[in-house]
Amino acid sequence: MPVTIVVGAQWGDEGKGRVADWLARESDGIARYAGGDNAGHTVIVGDAVFKLHLVPSGVVHSDKKCFLGNGMVINPVRLVSELDMLAERGIDISPDRIHLSPRAHVITPGHMELDGAADKARGKDAIGTTKRGIGLAYTDKATRVGLLTGEMADAEQFADAVQHSIEQANIILQSKYGAPPMDAVELVAEYAEAARRLQPYLADTNALIHDMLEADQRLLCEGAQGTLLDIDHGHYPFVTSSNATTGGAMTGLGFGPHYVDRVIGVVKAYCTRVGNGPFPTELLDETGEQLRQAGHEFGTTTGRPRRCGWLDMVALKYAIRVNGFNELVLSKMDVLGGMAEIKIATAYELDGKPITNMPLDTAAMERAQPVYEAVPGWDADISGARVMADLPEATQRYIKRIEELSGVKVMMVSVGPERDQAVQL
Ligand code: GDP
Ligand code: IMO
Ligand code: MG
Repeated sequence: MPVTIVVGAQWGDEGKGRVADWLARESDGIARYAGGDNAGHTVIVGDAVFKLHLVPSGVVHSDKKCFLGNGMVINPVRLVSELDMLAERGIDISPDRIHLSPRAHVITPGHMELDGAADKARGKDAIGTTKRGIGLAYTDKATRVGLLTGEMADAEQFADAVQHSIEQANIILQSKYGAPPMDAVELVAEYAEAARRLQPYLADTNALIHDMLEADQRLLCEGAQGTLLDIDHGHYPFVTSSNATTGGAMTGLGFGPHYVDRVIGVVKAYCTRVGNGPFPTELLDETGEQLRQAGHEFGTTTGRPRRCGWLDMVALKYAIRVNGFNELVLSKMDVLGGMAEIKIATAYELDGKPITNMPLDTAAMERAQPVYEAVPGWDADISGARVMADLPEATQRYIKRIEELSGVKVMMVSVGPERDQAVQL
């Protein structure tokens, strides 16, 4: 059973990139299965900081294959610039090892412009999207008018399709949002050039992945976003437009569940969220600011300050259920150093009644008040810890408490952003 799936257990930015980079060591290939460049995954190796949006984080290991699966939405111009960034830093970007599915969908300039205009028009009800055109590209996919990445194989025809999509978007931009139209000429040329650059990367990713699985090689599926941003399992409409959860790996890449033996949930030791939507344990006080500063909680993709709060066990138990996590990674444990007391929400109070099941109804989740259990903090720098015994007793107790409350084993605790700053359990 050669597949590991890594999924964000909260609202994204849990540290999936660094965990995928860690697990890539024991994998032969790494695949992204959903989302697009709304994702921002950070991998730090020594002085080198890689911020990846589309290419799987395993790319930093030169001997691994990388797949961008059917379930993704791809901005070709951004993919080319990401590949160029990697090449400049000495990473092998040869099409022998990086494979783009022809069945992913293209994010056009119109998708991006309309994403921004539509979210702005929502006013106070805005989702706070990344403005990368994600929702609009998935809309076109679902209504069966989307542009497949495979169409880049003929750059001229592809350019015509992009031109058409810009013209269509301009009509809506002007008539519905009173926004200025896009100038198609430069954008179409840029997209055509990107298509030519990406042609060698187009490959039957499904066949290549199955060749690996049949040869009993290990595939690591790198989730993007997080469980509570999943279109079916998060608080609609404050979600992204894809399945970030475990199931998305199977539909987005095309393999059966019998291949999967490890489902790893990446859990930040506290919670963060970018964009709008319910967040019961959010801290709007000094403690929230302390977490934001200590954890450098500013978006990898948009630079926006992330909302911060305590660990939410009610939401985590839901994520465990939805994904079937059999292992957890706790990230950013070092950030909690210096807190006198750490809180974990073990229940909510909803309309005066205690509940332990997370409500999926968005309005109910907005009203839910966390019920906390407090545990002692630690006043030590744990970033040099490499084995459990290096951690202060209070840190060990926090980890054990999370295992007890969640019923899932913690396999690793990360104590710093760099590759080796981790305690393997
Ligand atoms: P992803 O989207 O889940 O891959 O996470 P991001 O890369 O967007 O955000 C995680 C941020 O936390 C990045 O800046 C990482 O470098 C950083 N990070 C990851 N793990 C740790 C950790 O254990 N400690 C600290 N201090 N930072 C971490
Ligand atoms: P990674 O993979 C955190 C959020 C946006 C917004 C909502 C919808 O780095 O964890 P979208 O642009 O997808 O239509 O925005 O989802 N969002 C993320 N938040 N991390 C991400 O990715 C995110 N991708 C989308 O902020 O609230
Ligand atoms: Mg991120």
